[in-house]
Amino acid sequence: MGDRITRTLVEQAWDELEKTIMYYNGRPIGTIAARDPDIAALNYDQCFIRDFFPSALLFLIEGRPDIVRHFLEETLKLQPKTGQLECLKPSRGLLPASFKIATIIGGEYLKPDFGDHAIGRVAPADAGLWWVLLLRAYVISTQDTALVQRSDFQEGIRLVLELCLVTRFDMYPMVLVPDGASMIDRRMGLYGHPLDIQSLFYAALRTSLELLLPIPENQTILQAARNRLGPLQQHLRDNYWIDTDRLNVIYRFQVEEYGEEALNQFNIYSDSIPFYRLAKWVPEAGGYLAGNLGPSQLDCRFFAIGNLMAIIAGLTNEHQSHWILNLIELRWADLVGNMPMKLCYPALEDRDWQIVTGADPKNRPWSYHNGGSWPVLLWMLTAAARKMNRAELGHHAIAIAERRLLQDQWPEYYDGPDARLIGKEARKYQTWTIAGYLLAKEFIANPDHLKMITFEAQEAEDWQDPARTPGSYSPIAPEYQGSKS
Ligand code: GLC
Repeated sequence: MGDRITRTLVEQAWDELEKTIMYYNGRPIGTIAARDPDIAALNYDQCFIRDFFPSALLFLIEGRPDIVRHFLEETLKLQPKTGQLECLKPSRGLLPASFKIATIIGGEYLKPDFGDHAIGRVAPADAGLWWVLLLRAYVISTQDTALVQRSDFQEGIRLVLELCLVTRFDMYPMVLVPDGASMIDRRMGLYGHPLDIQSLFYAALRTSLELLLPIPENQTILQAARNRLGPLQQHLRDNYWIDTDRLNVIYRFQVEEYGEEALNQFNIYSDSIPFYRLAKWVPEAGGYLAGNLGPSQLDCRFFAIGNLMAIIAGLTNEHQSHWILNLIELRWADLVGNMPMKLCYPALEDRDWQIVTGADPKNRPWSYHNGGSWPVLLWMLTAAARKMNRAELGHHAIAIAERRLLQDQWPEYYDGPDARLIGKEARKYQTWTIAGYLLAKEFIANPDHLKMITFEAQEAEDWQDPARTPGSYSPIAPEYQGSKS
């Protein structure tokens, strides 16, 4: 009986996913964000690069790589290749958050949104990173190395990375971005060095070592990636990490230290950290990476994407990855509750909500990005858990999601501290909710699919040694193996 119910649920989910496919010149190219018949579409009738990622993995798993290939080829054409000093045009190397299919006399064309139309006019820092990760998944899944070796693809990867690696007003190895530059595309206090972007950046840097050929045009970027990976990894593992021991160190930090010997490098003031709440909340054998780090700022909110992608990308070491999963397991009621899982925990409330979000009603406390729960995160949770041989966490989360998703018509997000309410402004039939569920099921049924997205943890010093990187898997052509610079 139980099996039958699940099967029909999966079948229905596939049917719904099928209906979201967009066609460009008669060929499938992506999926629309949502198909809610009752709410104005705004831009939910577009294909978002980040939203397409889980659908794309499913198409690869299902043996339908053409749609993914078409998506990769066409979105690459949208990436600006010139114009470094322009100010009103999208930067060189940027990929759009989304695109739609528009018509003119004589045919169709793709109309990208680089943040020039989006609410709040936010430019996406994550789109290019997801694009690079999807290209890797495509190559691993299909073994079609010819595509990635094409000069337009080599240039595309190079430009995505170049945009993150350019010299800027910053002294840290992290990438510096404005607020709202990722899945959380509204003001949420994430300017600077938000974890969600750092984890994706780290994974994309690792991908570049696998996919960029050792040709002269790539030398500078390959070297820059190698130089960046070690310090970035070290910084995140050391300075973003929060557990009981680390809390004790931060609690007794000296302040106003000058020079190279400073321990409290970011000049974090003790009074800015909610020590008593955290000391109670963080389990003895648990921990996580903080949400953001900058001058006198350690944002202690838990962000799911950054932490789960850190496990998937091997950014955290073995011990830290387990401790993040321990935290999720032991604080299940807070982080999962009635729907996996919280995008960010806890919510900003009262005056903090007013100041930090600009009193954004969509991001009211415990709603949407601000403490809401997003079923799409099920695939990341399951992948991270399965990678660390803790599939039971994935099973448990899937079982919770299955109780509600179909009946509630696949909502975009849920509200409330325990995720009991369907999101106030949530779209129904949200594509990545459907895809996130199906993908989580696939990872449990066949963990081999994980290789499309995972990376093994490496020691920081390994990144300078080409012989010890990129690690166990390099999909580029055999003639280049061993000659990596
Ligand atoms: C919202 C989300 C964003 C998502 C988009 C389409 O804007 O904040 O992350 O990509 O909807 O689903």
